[in-house]
Amino acid sequence: MFQVPRVSADQLPSLLRRMPKAELHLHIEGTLEPELIFALARRNGVSLPYASVEELRQAYAFSNLQSFLDIYYAGASVLLREQDFYDMAMAYFERAAVDHIVHAELFFDPQTHTERGVPIASVIEGLHRACDDARSKLGVDATLILCFLRHLSEESAFATLEQALPYRHRFIGVGLDSSEVGNPPEKFARVFARCRELGLHRVAHAGEEGPPRYIWDALDLLGAERIDHGVQAVHDAALMQRLAAERIPLTVCPLSNVRLCVFPDLSQHNLPRLLEAGLVVTVNSDDPAYFGGYLNENFLQLFAATGMGAQEAYTLAANSFAASFVAPATRQAWVLELQGTFSDLAAA
Ligand code: ADE
Ligand code: ZN
Repeated sequence: MFQVPRVSADQLPSLLRRMPKAELHLHIEGTLEPELIFALARRNGVSLPYASVEELRQAYAFSNLQSFLDIYYAGASVLLREQDFYDMAMAYFERAAVDHIVHAELFFDPQTHTERGVPIASVIEGLHRACDDARSKLGVDATLILCFLRHLSEESAFATLEQALPYRHRFIGVGLDSSEVGNPPEKFARVFARCRELGLHRVAHAGEEGPPRYIWDALDLLGAERIDHGVQAVHDAALMQRLAAERIPLTVCPLSNVRLCVFPDLSQHNLPRLLEAGLVVTVNSDDPAYFGGYLNENFLQLFAATGMGAQEAYTLAANSFAASFVAPATRQAWVLELQGTFSDLAAA
């Protein structure tokens, strides 16, 4: 066991910024900054229902998940060509490198694009090329997770999987996102069973706004290896025990939860409680261009609001590696690098 050194309160922000970390819950379409949305709209001749960057930014006042998704899908409508997907992902990777993210598992929503006539090849190849360049130019390791939109049908999810299969080697797993309430996991049980046969990792959004039952069903009916969000688990003691005992990671997104009114503010967020209950909790940014901050901003604001310290910082960063879909040797190397950052800061 690594003994976390004592770190003074004024050293904590620097530690949070500098510690190596993995990001496991990041929708790449949610990294489109308003400036890039307008630049791509101009490049592609797409008209937007907003007159300016400022007007678009002013629309970012959400009351729940659906009010956000409506604007998020409108923003993604400017993405047409392979180069657009590359540019969007590279912009994220440049920010990720600044935040000392050494590994990112990116969600992408092919149906948002194929429904507009964009070939799935443009989506996947553009994102894949950016992942390659992130590794070689920025030292950020990155992989892709294809998400099915749960407000669409099972048939559409199967058709999307079929279209994606020629690019099977370009993504490591599948996820489930979009409007949660009313679209329970069971709707996608057969698609996920097929994905399991194909050797794909499986994750699912569950318990963001939806009930604990959706988390049980994501585990039992979808075979989910991680739960995205999962914060509603606190309302079910048996579920909390299972998540802890089976070490099923939760990819929690603090700023997202506040912006989408899941919690009134960060001081009320239940992440410290989930950690205390022994769950494998991680911190993530979800859709940072829409929710007011990238990964380090999530850490900094959460720690300032809750009073958590170096021990929790270490656990959260170590959890991000434990929960990642990487080879054990790679994970171990990052954990050693993490321990080095803590030791160096304590010695300084
Ligand atoms: N798609 C993008 N962000 C999402 C979120 N927070 N929940 C569900 N679907 C999403
Ligand atoms: Zn999400």
